[in-house]
Amino acid sequence: MIETEAYRFVFKPMGMAQMGQVRALEREALAHLERPDLLRRNTEQMWRECLQPPHLCLGAWVGEELAGFGVLYVPERGGVEDLSHSLTRVDGRQCASANFKICIVRPCWRGHHLQVQLGQRLAAEAKARGIGLLCATASPHNSASVKGLLRLGYCEDSQVEKYGFERTLFYRIN
Ligand SMILES: CC(C)(COP(=O)(O)OP(=O)(O)OC[C@H]1O[C@@H](n2cnc3c(N)ncnc32)[C@H](O)[C@@H]1OP(=O)(O)O)[C@@H](O)C(=O)NCCC(=O)NCCS
Repeated sequence: MIETEAYRFVFKPMGMAQMGQVRALEREALAHLERPDLLRRNTEQMWRECLQPPHLCLGAWVGEELAGFGVLYVPERGGVEDLSHSLTRVDGRQCASANFKICIVRPCWRGHHLQVQLGQRLAAEAKARGIGLLCATASPHNSASVKGLLRLGYCEDSQVEKYGFERTLFYRIN
């Protein structure tokens, strides 16, 4: 069983109005990273996409403070963002898929399994939409991210090159 402290956080979908807060959190997280290759800086265009349907950016709030957020990204089938087509252990073409694209927790809120709490909620939303397969990538050196994905029931598939770095591709039958 995953121990969580869900009572602390209020989970709310975010939109374009929260672009500034999302970018500020991204900058803060990047500044605290042990290694710069653990996380890729998203482009403005990518954030725009993430903050609008059909994608879902879910924020975790403590009062007025944004503690973290996670993104469910619904790629165009067969498009460049469609990770399911790179899977080697399952046939990713069999069902609708989405990516647990990014998750960032404010450095001072790390260690509360917020990534897991966000990932569970995004998976539930995906399921409600009939999405039966979730994909994610993480740097093999990003142990915090990898631990969270494994806790969420993601399985390792293979090593892929993404954003110019080696990444581990994960999937979860939803
Ligand atoms: C990866 C990340 C989202 C995990 O979020 P989280 O909610 O803190 O994760 P958890 O609480 O489940 O902790 C996972 C691991 O992180 C490490 N960790 C926990 N608190 C930490 C802290 N304050 N500082 C550094 N590492 C910490 C521990 O190894 C922990 O594993 P453990 O529970 O077995 O001890 C978060 O670390 C983060 O935002 N990192 C920077 C952005 C990033 O790399 N995102 C993932 C790629 S999109």
